Amino acid sequence: MIPKNPAAWSTEAAAELYHLSGWSDDYFRIDDSGRAVADVDRDGQRQIVIEKVVDRVTREGLQTPLVIRFQDIIASRVRQLNEAFNAAREEFGYEPPYRGVYPIKVNQLHEVVDEILEAGRTYGMGLECGSKAELVAALPYLGDEMFLICNGYKDEDMFDLILTGQRLGKMVIPVIEKFDEFQLLNRLANARGIRAEFGVRIRLMSPGSGKWAESGGDGSKFGVTIPELLRIMDSLREQGREESLVLLHFHLGSQVAHIQSLRAGVKEITRIYTQLAGRGMRVKYLDVGGGLGVNYEADLANPDEGINYTLQEYANTVVSIVQEMCRADNVAPPILISESGRALTAHHSVLVVDVLSAYGKEEIADGFVPGEADHAAIRALHDTLMWLREDTVLRPAELLEAYHDATVKRQEAESLFGFGYLPLEQKGLAEELYWSACKAINERVRASAMEWVPAELDALDRLLVEQYLCDFSVFQSILDHWAIGQRFPIMPLSRLDEKPSKRAVLVDLTCDSDGKVNRYVSDNEDKRYLDLHALNPGEPYRLGFFLMGAYQDIMGDMHNLFGRVAEVHVYADDDEPDGFYIEKRIPGARIKEILALVQYFPEDLKMRLEKMMMKEVRAGRLRRVEAVRFLERYTQMFNDTTYLNAAPAGDQAAPAAADMDAAPSAPQEAEVAE
Ligand SMILES: Cc1ncc(COP(=O)(O)O)c(C=O)c1O
Repeated sequence: MIPKNPAAWSTEAAAELYHLSGWSDDYFRIDDSGRAVADVDRDGQRQIVIEKVVDRVTREGLQTPLVIRFQDIIASRVRQLNEAFNAAREEFGYEPPYRGVYPIKVNQLHEVVDEILEAGRTYGMGLECGSKAELVAALPYLGDEMFLICNGYKDEDMFDLILTGQRLGKMVIPVIEKFDEFQLLNRLANARGIRAEFGVRIRLMSPGSGKWAESGGDGSKFGVTIPELLRIMDSLREQGREESLVLLHFHLGSQVAHIQSLRAGVKEITRIYTQLAGRGMRVKYLDVGGGLGVNYEADLANPDEGINYTLQEYANTVVSIVQEMCRADNVAPPILISESGRALTAHHSVLVVDVLSAYGKEEIADGFVPGEADHAAIRALHDTLMWLREDTVLRPAELLEAYHDATVKRQEAESLFGFGYLPLEQKGLAEELYWSACKAINERVRASAMEWVPAELDALDRLLVEQYLCDFSVFQSILDHWAIGQRFPIMPLSRLDEKPSKRAVLVDLTCDSDGKVNRYVSDNEDKRYLDLHALNPGEPYRLGFFLMGAYQDIMGDMHNLFGRVAEVHVYADDDEPDGFYIEKRIPGARIKEILALVQYFPEDLKMRLEKMMMKEVRAGRLRRVEAVRFLERYTQMFNDTTYLNAAPAGDQAAPAAADMDAAPSAPQEAEVAE
């Protein structure tokens, strides 16, 4: 909400507007100069001005859109998770250790996994994989005391690799999802003469909560049922191999919204654990899966996107329930495992996107006065506008009447145009006058403290928002927004000490009407626009999309062939200029790489274009030197990234055309064949 008194604008007001307290978890702040800052330890000690990172790397040649990974934040999250479980163990006197495993599906990037393992070394942090490729990537990472939990449906090759891992003395634990997987594992282990260790994912009755609730509960596609578990137990007993079943697992789905769902799940799995113990099956590990939530907005009115517990409450819940139930049944408690991914990675990554231009409703030029030649509808619209601009107080009913007048006159102009009685220029004027009148009405509505706003006038606000065209693809960078309507916090990286004067909807570069951000984080509304600043000509205007580190990187697709964006990995360091250094710079995907994925290759494409141009040269319609230049520029484009070469916001220069004109006269790579 914009504060009632506009003169009272401050960086605190900006923090309120962009609802920082709801999502930043103190990792992000606004400094006194109105710039967004990453506070990597959450204590104000090591702060990095995000725009300084962007400035440095763009000077060095990287382009936006750009993902900035604050590696220190990953380490901080790993520490917090482990410390929370250790604090809970101490509080409830839980003796066996807690061992977190990181599910690499959440963000497989090498440096992310490395950072988690590095920070988690002292806590014995391990990994979780859910597919063949993830298994192949993760196995070689295993240290002596690390777990690798292998979820997902598995084939013979995967079990083979897992059993090899066990032969090497590693703690690789396949988790059986379906009964036939157990049969396959059993057959392979017997053929090799190995007593393989494995776990079982239980299909709990307890459902999850939130957007991913269907990953758990009766309708889930995952996990073995209790009758299947009993068959597995019978089979193991017959073979005298009861000790092979070492782990029980459940997963309620990502982003568990309510702690009550977790309670129910933990109770159900612990009951199964104690019952197995009562039957002589000594399961060693209890794995409560992922689902530890992240507050993308903490909107209590909409629990699908918020969570109602803290990290410490999550850990306390798991530890206390298992402890209590094991004590009550006189059973030794298990080693606890959790598979939190989102909670470890979401905060560390910020997507930086340039706004290319803004499009609002066209308004009438200042000082316009209709003449004799203008149609009566134009003059009437102008009269309404002038009346709205007078310095008098207008009541809601009067504003509503003015709105109706303007609407009728615009409709009249439309009809006349349709029947061929009104020229195009007059129709243009009618539109500009109409939108100017709507804007004048809306400004009066917003400036007043009306208790009752007529519905038609209330709707104007949404109608008048501007479109801010951004250099990115929703489908590549925030797929969950398009797919499941997840909201991500978005705010400008600078000018936060300046009151935003525009209401905008962000639209992307794709030729798809879904390629826009149409829901925004706010404290209490179903907000369909973002408050932003007017673009200053020649000055970049950059937006940060926050909490992007979980799932979005890997799930993005290549709609319109927009590829992976550039990224940099940043560490805070007080001894370095501006308090940070960049460990790694990864350019965005090049056009030739993206084209190759859909089977287009530069040589073939160049040959085709060359043939096309030679025909024109032979016909005398194109000069040879022009053909050479076109081909050279075309050839260079294979190495460009798939995004636009963003001119500063509001700059009307057309870089592509300018570049074509400035093409060097002496061709380098390209040559047109005879
Ligand atoms: C089996 C399993 N474990 C762990 C996770 C990670 O969940 P989260 O990122 O919510 O912690 C997932 C993802 O949904 C999963 O399917």
